[in-house]
Parts: sequence; C-alpha cells; structure tokens
Amino acid sequence: MTILAVETSCDETSAAVVREGKILSNIVSSQIALHAEYGGVVPELAAREHLKNSPGVVRTAFEEAKISPGEIDAIAATQGPGLPTALLVGFKAAQAMAFALRKPFIGINHHEAHLYSPWIGDFAAFQPNISLIVSGGHTILVWVQSELKHQVLGATIDDAGGECFDKTGKLIGLPYPAGPEIDKLAEQGNPKAFDFPRPLLNDGSDDFSFSGLKTSVRYFLRDNPDLLTNPQRVRDLCASIQAAIVEVLVAKTIRAAKRTAVRCVTASGGVTCNRELRKQLEQACKRNGFILRLAEKGLCTDNAGMIGILAERKFLAGAAQVPLDQEIMSGLTLA
Ligand code: KG4
Ligand code: ZN
Repeated sequence: MTILAVETSCDETSAAVVREGKILSNIVSSQIALHAEYGGVVPELAAREHLKNSPGVVRTAFEEAKISPGEIDAIAATQGPGLPTALLVGFKAAQAMAFALRKPFIGINHHEAHLYSPWIGDFAAFQPNISLIVSGGHTILVWVQSELKHQVLGATIDDAGGECFDKTGKLIGLPYPAGPEIDKLAEQGNPKAFDFPRPLLNDGSDDFSFSGLKTSVRYFLRDNPDLLTNPQRVRDLCASIQAAIVEVLVAKTIRAAKRTAVRCVTASGGVTCNRELRKQLEQACKRNGFILRLAEKGLCTDNAGMIGILAERKFLAGAAQVPLDQEIMSGLTLA
C-alpha cells in the first residue's frame, strides 16, 4: 500500500510517501531560522509558515518518490498532540486531499509515531520494549508490550528534556535550538566540572522533572557571571549540564526495563540525536544485557516518514479510518 503522510505539529512542515514499510520520500522544511530570533517556537508564526510551505512540500514529496497522487491508497496526518494552530494546517489539508481523491484518511498520534520509529525498516525484528521518547516538548517513558499495544509509565512533570537543553543553552547565550550546540561544545568539556542536580533520579517513579536543573543553572550563572567569557569553562558547563540530563534519562529508562523484564530498550525524539545520550544508552544496555534500538538520526526529529510508516502498520492491523470531520487531539496521552 502507498500512503501520503503530513506532519505539522510544531515547527517542521513535512510530507512523506511510504510504500510497504519503506520511506520513498521524506521532505522536511524546517522553520528553525524563523523562530531562532524569538528564542523558541512562536505558534502563530509556525501555523502561517505551514500554510505557506505545505503545498510545495507535498508536491516535492510526490516528485521525489516518483509517485502521482492517483497512485496513493490512503492519506495520513498527525492528529496531535502539538501546537493546535500548527496541527490544524496539516491535518485539515490532508483531510481535504483525502476527500478530493476519495481515499481513506487516518489521524496519527505524534508520540506513537516516535514510539515505533526505531523499528522503521525492520518491524520483523520487533519485540516488547521500554521506550524513551525525548524531544523539545515531551519526555515520556512507555512500556510497549506488543506492536501497537503500549502503556505510558511516566512523563515529565514540568519541562521536557529538549526544553532543558534549549533553555539552559539560552542562558549561556547559545542560539535556538541549543540542544545540538550543547552536544557539540560538550564534546571538549569536562562533564564532572560542575555538579548539577539529577532531579527525580531516585524517587522510584517513572516521571521526570527538568525545571529545577534549569533553575540551578540560572543561579549558577548569576553567581559566576565571568564564566561565560572563558570558552573552556563554557564547554565544561555544557558537558556538565548534558551529563545531568543524560544520567537521569538513562538511569530511569534502564530501571523501567529491568522492572518490566523486557529484553529491549528503544529511544526516539529529537534529543535522541544527542551523541552522549546514544553512547550512554549503548553502554548501559550492554552492561545490563538489553538489546538497544535507537531511531536513526534522520528520523529522531519531527518528520512525516514516521507518521506514514505507523499509518501503514495501523491499516495493515485493520485500524478503522478516521472520519473526515474528526478534530485534532491535544494532551499527552498516547492512544
Ligand atoms: O522531536 P523534535 O524535533 O521536536 C519536538 O517534538 O520537540 O525535537 C527537538 C528537540 C529540541 O529541543 C532540540 O534542542 C533537541 O531536540 N535536540 C537535541 C539534539 N538535537 C536536537 N538535544 C540535544 N542534543 C542534540 N544533538
Ligand atoms: Zn516530536
């Protein structure tokens, strides 16, 4: 089956064509430069930019896949969660295309698409797992008992992991999004130089909290204002912040995997691009005998390819198509 998928939940306008488990095209038009000026995503601007970019992105997805609209069997779009006005643009455009082409339409939960993204290209190897989804908007720990059957174990009670990277980076003066910048600077920094809190590390729950860490970096910089003029100390600071975030993410993921007696750990979402997180997860899984599946770097950040792949799995599993008057969804819950 051939599916056109659209994703506009935040600041990437994306369209993809997928066929039989393969992503034929996955076009992502990023709005980072637009929002960088404001230090974060401005929802109203994101929605307007999606409106402007969607037709060209969809056209390019068809062209790159060498598929014509008439060859499409179904259309999928991110239904939520996300920025409501941004979601509306892609979701309603996709519904309109489904109506015009008289094709079935399916709305996809954004987190669920991240959740299954580590298996893209290899669903035959699927096995029950504990999955960490960590991005700019969310940090969620999920127990995936079988394909399409999963239970949320915990989530952040305040800031997301990526938000912590972005906001502490902003305090240091790094451009938005600061996550990739911290990743780069941390490479030549000492992760033990400064001791930042590891929130909820030992609280016994599967929840996360990152706002206290952000506040402690703020106070640290207030008390050490000269530090930012010393490039090596900035690298040490980045490495120390990254170490605190990564330690909590890895420890809680591994603890949940041990408790639920799964044999596999997966990770996805934008922060999964982080090299230290990837390395620490690899080492921890090796030590504890877990198989690790990380989403490919190109599929960690938001993209329509993962939406299309999940839509196809759902159709194959007999999921009902969503009526065309279905509304967008909000909230943190996974379907
Ligand atoms: O999944 P995503 O594209 O969008 C959301 O759904 O939020 O994730 C974006 C987030 C941003 O917070 C960005 O700073 C973070 O992922 N990120 C990273 C890295 N690459 C992206 N954080 C740390 N290290 C990276 N290499
Ligand atoms: Zn995402």
